Amino acid sequence: MLDIAAKLNLSNGYVDGDWLSAGDNKTFAVSNPANGDIIAEVADFGTVETEKAIAAAKNAFVDWSKRTAKQRCDIMKAWFRLIMQNQDQLARLLSQEQGKPFAEAKGEIAYGASYIDWFAEEARRNYGDVVPAAKPDTQILVLKQAIGVVAAITPWNFPNAMIARKVAPALAAGCTIVIKPAPDTPLSALALAQLAEEAGIPKGVVNIIPTTQTEAVGTLLTTHPDVAKVSFTGSTNVGRLIMRNGADTVKKLSLELGGNASFIVFDDADIDASVEGALASKFRNSGQTCVCANRIYAQAAIYDEFVEKLAAKVAELKVGDAFEDGVAQGPLINQAAIEKVDRLVEDATTKGASIVTGGEHHDRGELFYTPTILRDITEDADLLVEEIFGPVAPVIKFEDEDEVIAKANASEYGLASYFFARDIGRVWRVAEALETGIVGVNEGITSAVEAPFGGVKQSGIGREGSKYGLDDYVEIKYVLMGGLKK
Ligand code: SIN
Repeated sequence: MLDIAAKLNLSNGYVDGDWLSAGDNKTFAVSNPANGDIIAEVADFGTVETEKAIAAAKNAFVDWSKRTAKQRCDIMKAWFRLIMQNQDQLARLLSQEQGKPFAEAKGEIAYGASYIDWFAEEARRNYGDVVPAAKPDTQILVLKQAIGVVAAITPWNFPNAMIARKVAPALAAGCTIVIKPAPDTPLSALALAQLAEEAGIPKGVVNIIPTTQTEAVGTLLTTHPDVAKVSFTGSTNVGRLIMRNGADTVKKLSLELGGNASFIVFDDADIDASVEGALASKFRNSGQTCVCANRIYAQAAIYDEFVEKLAAKVAELKVGDAFEDGVAQGPLINQAAIEKVDRLVEDATTKGASIVTGGEHHDRGELFYTPTILRDITEDADLLVEEIFGPVAPVIKFEDEDEVIAKANASEYGLASYFFARDIGRVWRVAEALETGIVGVNEGITSAVEAPFGGVKQSGIGREGSKYGLDDYVEIKYVLMGGLKK
């Protein structure tokens, strides 16, 4: 069993099956955002260790990609079981480094593990095709082959699940991987690798680069000729940079980038259900997900009722440390995050919005923000175009369907959207019209391993999870078999 309490192996990076300190012995501190306590000192890897990891992954690819799908499946299933056996410990670690409530962290561990379980099975269904041939005495075969070495650059908001969602399809397809976790939350990544080792994943197949040298390591990972593919979850700005970096070596890319989700409540909606949906969508992980409702639109006839009911629920959300009973909202991840929330709330209120509840720091500590509802937002408020990434819900009034669809779609982002309505014609029209990769109809939480996660427009490229998720990690090879005549 994993001994997180003893911080076993959680201070070194993981390369080629070895737990290593940095060559120059540099380390960095990982702190708990709820109270600022230092919970670990972790090796601060640079480009030397990253080169080693890429070489190890390239070497390991030779064997791993040639194993049968069943062999890869069995090892991944063992990894999945170990993760679930250690769910509580992993969740505790996650809450400590990220701040989310313990119950939510446990949910994340199960969510992340579901990707490993799912793709272990998908490995065995990575079917090719035999296609009716164009010429006599030939056969057209379509093979799916592992892409090669994958670099995964992952965010702090889901320190476990966003790694699992990349490593699982990569390993299932036969790829090997070098993972650079966010510097705020490297411990969950190292714990996952420890269990991968215990499950029998061969050395070099999974490598972890904890680092604060984000630019140097990120540039190396995204330009290195031996890295065939980059999978990134994070901001659209960094996504653009990764595309530029990858251009010279024509890297395959999976990009899960920023969002600006609209959440629309029509006047025929079940208002209580829409309030629950908004609460779940907006305040999950204290508003720090790419699919969190960012702009809530309520139709004029039900606007006041919706705002009032939502504000009453939001005022009841318990804010505090991850391990306190009943806590629903943790701290924001760091100082920059809370400053951004401050700036956006101040901008909105200066321009005319009013605060229904919250609108200020919470007395639990430096990084805690009181869950907030803003109403009467003006069109020029910055939070309508920027991702808030905090527990602040602006509610905007609208008059009719065409107007709200135009407003919802007036964004460079296209990750997720939500709406609540009962009229069947409207449900179909709006679902089709919204320019996002994910649409929740009468639901505030859409994420599930069975469903394709990903955005359109500048929210990204590719899909994670589902039966489509493996496609991002394979190359399609066409083989024309000729000379078949006797
Ligand atoms: C994200 O915020 O990037 C992921 C959210 C999810 O998987 O639901």
